[in-house]
Amino acid sequence: MAAKILAVTNQKGGVGKTTSSCNVAKELCSRNKRVLLVDNDPQGNQTKLIFGDDIPDEVFYVDERGKSRSGPANTFSLYEEGREVEPYPVSEYLSIFGTNKQLAGMNSEDVIEVGIPFKEKLTELAEQFDYIIIDCLPGWGTLLNSALLTSDYVLIPTELDGFAVDGIAQLYKTVGSVKKHLNPALQVLGIFANKVDGRRVQVQRHYKQDIRERFGDAMLEHEITSSVKVAEANALNQSVAEYNPTLTQTHQYQRLATEILERMEG
Ligand SMILES: Nc1ncnc2c1ncn2[C@@H]1O[C@H](COP(=O)(O)OP(=O)(O)OP(=O)(O)O)[C@@H](O)[C@H]1O
Ligand SMILES: [Mg+2]
Repeated sequence: MAAKILAVTNQKGGVGKTTSSCNVAKELCSRNKRVLLVDNDPQGNQTKLIFGDDIPDEVFYVDERGKSRSGPANTFSLYEEGREVEPYPVSEYLSIFGTNKQLAGMNSEDVIEVGIPFKEKLTELAEQFDYIIIDCLPGWGTLLNSALLTSDYVLIPTELDGFAVDGIAQLYKTVGSVKKHLNPALQVLGIFANKVDGRRVQVQRHYKQDIRERFGDAMLEHEITSSVKVAEANALNQSVAEYNPTLTQTHQYQRLATEILERMEG
């Protein structure tokens, strides 16, 4: 069966899109699921998170002047009509399309012109995987719209603060518009809280309630608490489970992954 395609998105920056895409992807891989990660953000944070400083040549060619150009395992090539693409195999179950800031140019291209090749190429690759996870950039534009055009589901990490609800409402509008014009099958899989802080219980309960009232069942039960250990794992290019299998956040990502799977398969 073809892979389910999941866009991890929130136009607000720094909420944990990249960290959560990586941790959920690796958790699914540990359950023998074949996962393709797509770094769809010119910041290239997912690429750095997976490879550290040793990004393989297949992801970037470096020309004689030392300038990096997109290779066949680069997200950029997914947007180009006719280019041969093949994701880079990171491990037995995990593959990736990496990226660099060259991708930024695509954000102002026409969504039909570049988004359709992106969708077609990923749909073709979907036969080889169980899940495709697209780590989206903060903000808006063709890169986000192309991911939404291609995906079955949207997964929304959020922090529990005053801007969260407004941000999610704006994202729902974008999802609604893509659903109407480009991809009727698109569904919000769920919203989950990240960087939950035990010192701010009252105020976070208030915002969680607020999200439940506005978006109902979309709010997932499981959440990820804030810990410097998550940032430490990132710095070592590891998932939290690889960093320390007994960490609270390791168990939280396991439970979150199960809940995500239940929603996709249920
Ligand atoms: N649960 C957590 N506890 C502590 N720090 C976290 C947690 N999740 C993410 N972080 C840290 O927060 C920062 C932002 O995370 P991340 O890059 O995953 O967010 P993002 O939404 O992908 O950001 P951007 O919008 O720039 O793409 C990183 O420094 C990361 O290490
Ligand atoms: Mg990111």
